[in-house]
Amino acid sequence: MTGRRKVCAACPESIEQPSTGRPRLYCSDACRQRAQAARNRRRRFRSEWWTPPQVRARMLDEWPISLDAAACAPSALVPTYLGPDHPDPGRRDALAFAHWADLAPGGTAVWLNPPYTPAATLSQFLSRAVVTAHAGRTVVGLLPASTGTAWWWEHVIDAGAQIEFLRGRLSFGGPHAGAGRGTTAPWGSAIVVWKASHRRSHNTGRPRALIDPSGQRRYLHV
Ligand SMILES: C[S@@+](CC[C@H](N)C(=O)[O-])C[C@H]1O[C@@H](n2cnc3c(N)ncnc32)[C@H](O)[C@@H]1O
Repeated sequence: MTGRRKVCAACPESIEQPSTGRPRLYCSDACRQRAQAARNRRRRFRSEWWTPPQVRARMLDEWPISLDAAACAPSALVPTYLGPDHPDPGRRDALAFAHWADLAPGGTAVWLNPPYTPAATLSQFLSRAVVTAHAGRTVVGLLPASTGTAWWWEHVIDAGAQIEFLRGRLSFGGPHAGAGRGTTAPWGSAIVVWKASHRRSHNTGRPRALIDPSGQRRYLHV
């Protein structure tokens, strides 16, 4: 019986282990169900890294954002959004659109802080951002600055996006954050801008790093 739990994994009750068969993790069905519900909640909230208020305010100040392409009612940066809780079933899945240019009036921009996991889903969001820019609407995104990933190189660098690396780590909001507190991300973040009418073919040479005159923001142009 070595290695078998003596205490429930969900509460302080002790567990009586059976002498044969699978070891028990929980003292009761109620605890097992509570633990399962918590796991489901965590899974659901994995995509809920809400843009911190100071980034939100700056983006709304700097860009004419008219559509939030990945949101829910309480997290959307602007009233027009795509997201699973949208009252119009046709607006619940951003990935059902080839691009989002037709949903944002000319001259405005689309905001994108997509679900970060799984990477395949993130890539799908980013490929739509690239196509949206090709279709004439700027997309402004908040992304993990994950320079070691395939998606970063394909959809950010090779797509010719403008990058602003954010200093430090952001404290995100959302249902996974404690009441009234943010959750500090274990990654650095970047604002990525796919400018309207960018073309993949622009990326013919090596990337160039530029530091703007204030010395605060670093951009990479290709
Ligand atoms: C990282 S959060 C960003 C929320 C908000 N836009 C912000 O910037 O704070 C990603 C959001 O995408 C939403 N989402 C997940 N799958 C989606 C889909 N297929 N289409 C549109 N939105 C989706 C989630 O509900 C979640 O609110």
